[in-house]
Formats: sequence, C-alpha cells, structure tokens
Amino acid sequence: MKKLVVFASGSGSNFQAIIDGIEKKEINAQISGLITDRQESGAAARAKKHQIPFVEIQEKNPDQFSNKIIEQLNDWNPDLIILAGFLRKVSDSIVHRYQNMIINIHPSLLPKYGGKGFHGLNVHKAVIDAGDLESGCTVHFVNEEYDRGEIIMQKRVDVRENDTPTTLAARVLKAEHKLLPTVINKLLKD
Ligand code: GAR
Repeated sequence: MKKLVVFASGSGSNFQAIIDGIEKKEINAQISGLITDRQESGAAARAKKHQIPFVEIQEKNPDQFSNKIIEQLNDWNPDLIILAGFLRKVSDSIVHRYQNMIINIHPSLLPKYGGKGFHGLNVHKAVIDAGDLESGCTVHFVNEEYDRGEIIMQKRVDVRENDTPTTLAARVLKAEHKLLPTVINKLLKD
C-alpha cells in the first residue's frame, strides 16, 4: 500500500478530504503521518481523532526545522508528500531529496496570486480587488520556488458579484476538497 505524509498548519480540512477519500476507498493509500508546525492545530486534532500519527515541529531555526522533518520522513518513508495548507517554506534539501514527490495545494489559479504573502484570505482579496471573474485552486509539484513548481491540475470557480474574500474562500475550499483527492489518485496510479 502506498504511503502518504501530509503537512498542514491550519484547520486541516484538506487533510480531512484525504482521510475521507481513503475511508471511502476512493484513494488506495494509507497516511503514515501528519507533520504540523503549529501547536494544537485543527489538523492535529483530526489526526488524533482518526488515530493517525502526528508530530508538531516548531523549530524557529530553518536548518533545525528541516533536519527534524527529514528525520521524521526517513522514519515514515512516504511515496507522496502532500502540503495541505502548510505555511512554512519547505527547504531545498527536502525538495531535492523528494524530487517530484511533494505536491502543494494553493487557493488560486497559479501562476496568478502565488508566492510570498499570498495565502489564506489575502489571495481571495487580491482576486476580488483585481475584478477577476474566475478563481479556483491549483495542485502543483513543489520546487525551490514558492508556488512555482509544475502545475498538475486546476479547478475553476466563478467569482460572484457580491463575493467577499470569505465567501469566495469558502467556495474555493470546497473545490480544493474535490481537486486534492483526484490528483492524489492520479499520481498514485501513474
Ligand atoms: C487552503 O485554502 C489551502 O489552499 C491554503 O491554506 C488553506 C488551508 O485550509 N494554502 C495556502 O494558502 C498555501 N499557500 P485547510 O487547513 O482547511 O486545509
């Protein structure tokens, strides 16, 4: 059985979409563990509830942070690593070690609204301020540049006239929950 490791900082609803996909047998894999950089994140609570091993890594020093992650990954030996709302940059040494094995989900149609500072509601506010008529989400491979790795798949959503960053974020998040399991399945089959 293929092994997944998920990295998440926030509420973990995308992590939950992966758990649900596995429980519904739509994804043929197991989750070896969750890595979170926040104490008591929503993602960690979900891991606890589903008896999935998790570690909280909160080192401020980037090298120590990266070393701790590598140590844990050596132990779990994943086939695919999924960044599901992970807000710290993954070091180049991890990217090189797991070339084309790390994917990230981002709440915009990259390359638009990606890179440093574009996360959470900032992304959706920028889309609305620009007057864009559509937005969406992207799953891409992770390389050394923030949000710039090869795009694997995207899902579009309409921007509505009365949208606020919050209402748009909710619609995009729903699309993320469909897109992420689809991409994981595709990659595991390829
Ligand atoms: C998601 O919208 C994800 O695309 C975004 O964080 C949210 C996490 O939600 N990621 C980024 O902005 C990465 N640059 P979740 O914790 O409910 O899955």
